[in-house]
Amino acid sequence: MEFRVKRNAGLDYLQVHELRLAVGWTSDPERQRKEIENCYSNFSIVSQGVLIGYLNIISDGVSDALLNNLMVHPDYQRKGVGTKLVKTAVDELTRDGVKFFNLVFNDELVPFYKKCGFHIMRSGIIDLWNNEHNEAVAETAA
Ligand SMILES: CC(C)(COP(=O)(O)OP(=O)(O)OC[C@H]1O[C@@H](n2cnc3c(N)ncnc32)[C@H](O)[C@@H]1OP(=O)(O)O)[C@@H](O)C(=O)NCCC(=O)NCCS
Repeated sequence: MEFRVKRNAGLDYLQVHELRLAVGWTSDPERQRKEIENCYSNFSIVSQGVLIGYLNIISDGVSDALLNNLMVHPDYQRKGVGTKLVKTAVDELTRDGVKFFNLVFNDELVPFYKKCGFHIMRSGIIDLWNNEHNEAVAETAA
């Protein structure tokens, strides 16, 4: 199946919200609205009117870019959609002049990102997002 990646397709943020839920992530529609509004770019694939792949970019547009929130709908995983989104984004941003691409992922996705052309290096992060989430889970469990 041929999937077409579009840049800044004017997505409805509720579609991104639905896709987040479909991949098992938490979601807040208002946060998704702001994310689409504020990101440097986003890349998406729609099939039969449904958003099946999404990736957004935080960037200065001339040097560095963070690839964020990559998601492929479970019904379309392992068909090359994620790889296509990442490679298209890297190609397009390279044309913009970006030279340094980074992202954060779990160990299990090392094979995927290696296939997308990434070198695996050490990095440091402060992850308040997951801290908030874990604290909320701990409170619920108490
Ligand atoms: C991770 C994700 C984006 C991959 O997208 P995808 O379209 O399924 O990936 P592709 O079909 O392009 O995969 C290409 C190759 O990467 C590797 N790969 C893909 N998903 C993998 C996984 N979950 N674990 C290990 N390797 C994986 C495989 O080698 C695969 O080739 P193969 O299918 O021939 O074995 C998708 O599984 C997803 O949306 N997951 C939920 C959200 C998520 O975790 N996003 C990543 C945030 S960092």
